[in-house]
Amino acid sequence: MRTDTGKTVFLKDYAPTPYRAPHTSLMFALHPTRTVVRATTLYEPVGGGPLELAGDGLSLMAAELDGAPLDESAYEATPDRFVLKAPPAEPFALTLVTVVSPDDNTELMGLYRSNGVYCTQCEAEGYRRITYAYDRPDVLSVYDVFVVSDAEGEQVLLSNGNLVDRKVSGGRLTAHWHDPFPKPTYLFALVAGDLGAVTDEFTTMSGRKVELNIYVERGKEPRATYAMDALKRSMVWDETRFGREYDLDVFNIVAVSDFNMGAMENKGLNVFNDRYVLADPDVATDQDYAGIETVIAHEYFHNWTGNRITCRDWFQLCLKEGLTVFRDQEFTSDERSRGVKRIADVRRLRAAQFPEDASPLRHCVRPNRYDEISNLYTSTVYDKGAELIRMIHTMIGEPRFRAGMDDYFARFDGTAATVEDFIGCFSIPDPGAFMRWYEEPGTPRVKVAEAFKDGRYTLELTQVPAEGASVKPIPVRLALLTDTGAIDPAKATVTGGEIGTGHIVLTDRVTVTVNRLNAAPIASVMRGFSAPVTIERAPDEARDLTLIAKDDDPFTVWDAVQRLALSAMQARYDGAAIDETPLAAALGTLAANAGHEPAFRALALILPTRQALIEAIGQNVDPDRVDTAHQGLGASLGEKMRDVLARLHGAPLPPADDVSADAAGQRALRNAAMQLLASAGDTGRAMAQAKNATSMTDRLAALGALAFTNAGEADEALATFAREYDHEPLVLDKYFAMEAMRPDAEALDRVRRLMEHPKFSLKTPNRVRSLIGAFAQNVAAFHRADGSGYRLVAEVAKSLDKSNPQVAARLLTSFSDVRRFDAPRREAAADVLADVLQTATSSDVVDIARRLTAK
Ligand code: ARG
Ligand code: ZN
Repeated sequence: MRTDTGKTVFLKDYAPTPYRAPHTSLMFALHPTRTVVRATTLYEPVGGGPLELAGDGLSLMAAELDGAPLDESAYEATPDRFVLKAPPAEPFALTLVTVVSPDDNTELMGLYRSNGVYCTQCEAEGYRRITYAYDRPDVLSVYDVFVVSDAEGEQVLLSNGNLVDRKVSGGRLTAHWHDPFPKPTYLFALVAGDLGAVTDEFTTMSGRKVELNIYVERGKEPRATYAMDALKRSMVWDETRFGREYDLDVFNIVAVSDFNMGAMENKGLNVFNDRYVLADPDVATDQDYAGIETVIAHEYFHNWTGNRITCRDWFQLCLKEGLTVFRDQEFTSDERSRGVKRIADVRRLRAAQFPEDASPLRHCVRPNRYDEISNLYTSTVYDKGAELIRMIHTMIGEPRFRAGMDDYFARFDGTAATVEDFIGCFSIPDPGAFMRWYEEPGTPRVKVAEAFKDGRYTLELTQVPAEGASVKPIPVRLALLTDTGAIDPAKATVTGGEIGTGHIVLTDRVTVTVNRLNAAPIASVMRGFSAPVTIERAPDEARDLTLIAKDDDPFTVWDAVQRLALSAMQARYDGAAIDETPLAAALGTLAANAGHEPAFRALALILPTRQALIEAIGQNVDPDRVDTAHQGLGASLGEKMRDVLARLHGAPLPPADDVSADAAGQRALRNAAMQLLASAGDTGRAMAQAKNATSMTDRLAALGALAFTNAGEADEALATFAREYDHEPLVLDKYFAMEAMRPDAEALDRVRRLMEHPKFSLKTPNRVRSLIGAFAQNVAAFHRADGSGYRLVAEVAKSLDKSNPQVAARLLTSFSDVRRFDAPRREAAADVLADVLQTATSSDVVDIARRLTAK
């Protein structure tokens, strides 16, 4: 296991390796505790000097140079390093034999076993746990992989690329895979096991046939059909929207149950957390289906943005991740609903990225240093990274964006590129200024000021950079609404900013003036959430009510609802409740408006999160009052909208096996209505729905309505649910998460009790996240005044520090908003974190604990 080395890596220190590695041949003789890995790599000198390779906990059995055993004096081998002191001046083949134990690999990095299935995870630095290598993304190699198992043993033997040969000889089964596309080590993968599969075929736009397989636990094949459908739609979409065709004869996906993250884009062999593959309406919710569609698409899209063009170094991670998130967002927008998808993405950004960007864990989209790369797979790199791509798209428009992408693929295919390489492909006005988005952390603010006098309307937008940051180009999409429609942009005078098609680029300050008006227009600002900024605008209920009623941009309408609901919640928190009738009326009208999509109306009915309230309060937050304010507003709106909500909940139910976006929207709307009614004390419908639901979506929504309103019936309903699904891990995860998030005083004790549940295990990341990760989102319980919530999470993180540091580090990030709470809580958390820092040994946990405790 890797322990903290205290080494910081800096972007400015980047240097290419002195050797290239154009070919790698790997032979795996599989064994649960003694897998022998024979790796022969061809090295070509570029600069010369010693060849220094990375390892992580390896033991070397043999070393050969061009087929002849190497004298021990010629090299130096430790668990973490292999150095060939004086390599030949000509290309040479270095063979290194290592032995690894998949069964003892609890970190789930490198080669491990999940439910008896051999699998690998190499991004970012897992390959070095298999063999010594230049384990960095800028060294590209063509691989031949020989996977060897017992003839009676594992029958499914997979690696990257195309299958060359499969044969039995001497009681051994060998599969030979060849991947013609040079790739870095992090994209290497191997899978071996006794697995079932669904198989299909895809014909690419140039007429090539591709075999598609999704491998799952035997018996679960029917649950992989939706993922297969999503895969084929992704393949079509990437051809039509980006002209990108698949490039191998086969595309394999494998679902495993123990996985540290969502999924991994290994070339031709994607490995997935089974929650992003397996679904049927009895066990998966509409949200799960949407998640599967997104992740399948995301990993598939990496084939071009990530694999064909990879990253020069890990500082460039957003080059593949931000871009690929943008691509999967666009896919979902095209397949489902653009407006709804945009709102969902903004919610996620505001819930995860904005807080991160204001916390001690903040970092640039392209960082310039790191202590542990695993900790940089963050919302900032992924989600803010995607926002930066989206701003480019907004500023230059789809045709020029597509041309830029074509140029990027043409120029950088087969290479390891940088953010600058990418930006250089797009004709944006001031690329240097735009690069600041990548190089400075923090969320910029845009202040909106308006005036109307003598028929003259002015709107002033001012940029306020985050602390220590500079002014950046911000595309602002704007509409000025009047009773007779939007004002023609040609009638407006804009000063201080560049006008693009449908947007203005704001740097310091922009003024928009319109003369000869009878009344002030209503400004719809930042339509479609055209930039990842916070908008500061004087509260104005009448204006927001008009936007809700009249604006035609889904985001700005939804945002106006959020703004009003949040200020009502904040007023409650401050003990000065305002009249919530106008909000309830506007919301009721919106929710009942059949002219809007059901999914959109459902989103409007979901209250701002407790997290949003915490941020609005800013400091010395009292978590119990947060809960009271949140629940109070729900109860009040539920009460005031009772009739509308009851009608919505009474709407006809689409068939449970219709998992289309449309049907999902209808269920979401019914369930959002049920949740608000339950908040107002009407739990009867939720009880009935919990009993009679025909889909997991409806069942879970009903249980949530009971659990999150502290209904007396919740205990029993949840217990029944847990008994019924005891044999379904992914459903049990939902059960654990719901128990952990119940906003009552028992939450902490309940979680401690559930940690003793026979099905709870620290070995399965999904289970840890569902119970402990969810608990850390339970505001009142995690932030208990006595510090016991902090201690629980820290305890788990400490025990995982040795067995699975990545999961441990991820849990600890929940502490990043403790600074919003009062002094006793901050002190309790600081003590807990100091203790973690002192006892932790993994670089993952040490890095997070250090940043969280830094003064
Ligand atoms: N590249 C993968 C994806 O986003 C995620 C890998 C995460 N790696 C990690 N060490 N957390 O598709
Ligand atoms: Zn990705």
